[in-house]
Amino acid sequence: MGSFAVAGLFAGIGGIELGLDRAGHRTELLCEAWEPAASVLAERFPGVPVHPDVRTLRSLPRSVDLLTAGFPCQDLSQAGMAAGIGGSQSGLVDHVFRLIGRRHPRWLLLENVQFMLQLDRGRAMSFLVAELSDLGYRWAYRVVDSRFTGVPQRRRRVLLLASRAEDPRAVLFADDAGERPESDYRSDAFGFYWTEGLKGLGWARDAVPTLKGGSTVGIPSSPGIWVPDAEPGQKLIMPSIEDTEVLQGFPRGWTQPADLGRRNGPRWKLTGNAVTVGVARWLGERLSSPGSPSGTSLRREEGAPWPSAAWGDRSGVFRVDVSEYPRHESYVHLRDVVDETAARPITNRGARGFYGRTLSAKLRFDPKFIADVVQHIEVTGSVESVPA
Ligand SMILES: C[S@@+](CC[C@H](N)C(=O)[O-])C[C@H]1O[C@@H](n2cnc3c(N)ncnc32)[C@H](O)[C@@H]1O
Repeated sequence: MGSFAVAGLFAGIGGIELGLDRAGHRTELLCEAWEPAASVLAERFPGVPVHPDVRTLRSLPRSVDLLTAGFPCQDLSQAGMAAGIGGSQSGLVDHVFRLIGRRHPRWLLLENVQFMLQLDRGRAMSFLVAELSDLGYRWAYRVVDSRFTGVPQRRRRVLLLASRAEDPRAVLFADDAGERPESDYRSDAFGFYWTEGLKGLGWARDAVPTLKGGSTVGIPSSPGIWVPDAEPGQKLIMPSIEDTEVLQGFPRGWTQPADLGRRNGPRWKLTGNAVTVGVARWLGERLSSPGSPSGTSLRREEGAPWPSAAWGDRSGVFRVDVSEYPRHESYVHLRDVVDETAARPITNRGARGFYGRTLSAKLRFDPKFIADVVQHIEVTGSVESVPA
């Protein structure tokens, strides 16, 4: 089906668009409101216009075949609520419907956090698909884990693809490889959130947990990595921003244009908010060459929880039993991504806080891990600083 002209709304640093470009499509228009993100787009997509606000984008260029929108998640809860109270307050996502209502692109791709399926007891998702069905679109969505693309980051995201002319099932459900076998993962590095530890810690073998955008002021919320056989004092480290870019499938230094020279600059937030590049590349490849949908479809009862994959149109909603791993692309191990010579150790204060939380948590921890946390506190500070 060849190459598509893409317009990317809420483009961030262009994870979707870079992936689509790698699959042979071409980005013709970008829209992004946050200055640091727009500066990355301007540098990385030279010659592509970057419109500053979706609310003032009057229409899509005629040439656009594929409209992408990884809209802000908090906006969805507002939109869902607005739908419930009669639509008096429209959210940003409404501008996507305004734009496609004016000129229907061949394809629409929405992307968001997996939590979108539970948000507002599923009402937010119901709102989206009802809007699409009303506009005559057939839609399909699927939760995918970025690890299918080979990056060592557990990241579950919803991809929702819709069209009035084409069948999104032949794209989204054409591949299903099942969960990755345990043998794909090594046991020489483990990711976790050292800022957590009480109710959960995001533990992942040979991967980091989902990278986060952090706070609006750009305070980095970096995961930690336990490297059991590293030197004492270097066993608990944090990936650098460049490592983090690679964990999202970008080239090292991709967000450099947003570097304002401050340590807590916007690069962490930009990278944490992005779509993993390989996820969009896979989708882009399948858009050019759709296959036969796998998985069986069963009608979803009205009001039932949203499953991890489904499709629908005016005739109803159907759940599909496919995994979160369309493919098993060659796995890159966490220690092969993280430059351990440049990685900073978790601070003594951070490690003490984390250890304190593990003492009161009801979670079970690997005793070797806890022994290394204690050793890290001792090596990076004074022995007295280990909480009792
Ligand atoms: C979840 S992020 C999208 C990330 C993107 N898909 C990527 O790969 O980097 C949502 C983006 O919407 C942008 N945004 C928020 N309000 C906007 C508006 N009114 N117009 C355009 N972009 C907006 C935010 O600045 C943010 O970068």
